[in-house]
Amino acid sequence: MSDDIIAIDGPAGSGKSTVARAVAQQLGWSFLDTGAMYRAVTCEVLARGIDLHDDAAVGALADTLTLTTTPRVSVNGRDVQDEIRTDTINVAVSVVAANPLVRQAMVSRQREWAKSQPLGTVVEGRDIATVVFPDATLKVFLTASVEERARRRGDESPASIARRDNADSTRVTSPLRQAHDALFIDTTDRAAQDVAGEIVQCLKSRRSS
Ligand code: CDP
Repeated sequence: MSDDIIAIDGPAGSGKSTVARAVAQQLGWSFLDTGAMYRAVTCEVLARGIDLHDDAAVGALADTLTLTTTPRVSVNGRDVQDEIRTDTINVAVSVVAANPLVRQAMVSRQREWAKSQPLGTVVEGRDIATVVFPDATLKVFLTASVEERARRRGDESPASIARRDNADSTRVTSPLRQAHDALFIDTTDRAAQDVAGEIVQCLKSRRSS
């Protein structure tokens, strides 16, 4: 079991998932997409007809769910891999992710899961370096120009991305923030493998110093 964590945060379309997967692959570590967890919870809230704004009911449900993110995203055994990327979920997830009870439930699962991985874990999201793993081995904050981020997220409109970014950055509980000790990387015009290589190099040089 390993305590090694690379925590990667950033806004939508900054390259988090692709870069995090590539880093995990280069190191032979596990990978966790925490956004998929919030999206999967949102699918189940809507499927059950629960009021999105009923924090207590949504939080209680989040506590009981069985979630998987690999090889496919599922909630209570139901495959939601495609559904999590729909416009309906893009809108509703901002409400569910702002719910402190949901966040508490997801954060404890994320910590437990990482602890059980044999080597290290690369975790990506919005609050990973600031809240979930404040003692991570390496913290990274990715960004890219607004145009590039919209291009990468071709399935989501620029207006929807901007709305989500604003909701994520201004919410009270665990807003999207760069940790003060995070490595900042602008991924505009850079290939994911190149950015992943920079992160792996940074990890290695910190370990040898
Ligand atoms: O892929 P993209 O960056 O567009 O989004 P995502 O990582 O799938 O996350 C979807 C939404 O979940 C975000 O807009 C946040 O509201 C929320 N989220 C969060 O609050 N905390 C995390 N650690 C990860 C995602």
